[in-house]
Amino acid sequence: MSDAVQTQSNPNAGFTPRVFSGIQPTGNLHLGNYLGALKRFADAQNKGIESIYCMVDLHAITVWQDPADLARATRELCAGFIAAGVDPEKSILFNQSQVPEHTQMAWIFNCVARMGWMQRMTQFKDKAGKNAQNASLGLFAYPALMAADILVYHATHVPVGEDQKQHLELTRDIAIKFNHDYGVDFFPITEPVIEGAATRVMSFRDGTKKMSKSDPSDMSRINLTDDADAIAKKIRKAKTDPEPLPDSIEGLEDRPEARNLVNIYAALADLTPEQVIAEHAGQQFGTFKPSLADLAVAKLAPISTEMSRLMQDQGEIDNILRRGSDRARNIATPILQKTYDIAGMIRS
Ligand code: TRP
Repeated sequence: MSDAVQTQSNPNAGFTPRVFSGIQPTGNLHLGNYLGALKRFADAQNKGIESIYCMVDLHAITVWQDPADLARATRELCAGFIAAGVDPEKSILFNQSQVPEHTQMAWIFNCVARMGWMQRMTQFKDKAGKNAQNASLGLFAYPALMAADILVYHATHVPVGEDQKQHLELTRDIAIKFNHDYGVDFFPITEPVIEGAATRVMSFRDGTKKMSKSDPSDMSRINLTDDADAIAKKIRKAKTDPEPLPDSIEGLEDRPEARNLVNIYAALADLTPEQVIAEHAGQQFGTFKPSLADLAVAKLAPISTEMSRLMQDQGEIDNILRRGSDRARNIATPILQKTYDIAGMIRS
């Protein structure tokens, strides 16, 4: 991510580099969220770029959420961010619904985005399934709210997974159309910073599927709340093939499960997959898995301990979210106000 940020050039030359990303507080955090998002966010923050991270509770309710579960998942996500190394003093950490400028900006963007653009969104089609008539209007409008999340801060860089690429293209289209229609140069054209294959974590049961909180098998993933025994057991039982590790990375091409374990090792150890292969070439999984389990326990067990410590003090988490929301509003309020001015909304 840092490279993309540093080499950033036109068309956003006039905009201060600013990172924004959002995660939905639904279900449990797992290793895929940690390596693909939280750990990358913590690493980026330490490079000194202003970073804003949002728990998108308004996005979550585009499909039904039990209120108590939503509140718990929001606090748990906040605890996960902090336990993974995102410092709420350096970065801005908050939940979306406490900053009303997101939904205010979203309305403006609902009037910029075209029906045809929204109808092309593949995630809507996937999530709405066969019965699109019964999907919420919010689910359909979701990407315009996402554009508002980003542009209400004039964010220039958005780290996300591959599945969010189309939504970021829409965000760019909305910024371009707004700037063009009103004859201004007001919104930046945001750069996606797409997660690489090396941090994409796959299921322990099927190396061709992403690790997911909705997989019915708990053995398919490591939850960030798993203790050391559970972590080690899940790695020991992860699906593999009977071959030893190859002596070069090409040897992993048609071995998705082996590739996944090598990638996880690399991401946890801050090595490249090539370096991991160089160190472990020729090893059987009976040898490699215990090393991976030791590494995973060393890196992840402290996160799970810190999360449960934080979760015991709900008041402290709520304080962090409130302070983050105040700081977020300080940035968002003048940008929304200027947007209203541009659109001809009277401020009297
Ligand atoms: N749509 C994203 C997801 O499901 C979450 C999200 C909402 C987001 N708003 C955002 C991500 C803004 C990046 C920027 O993963």
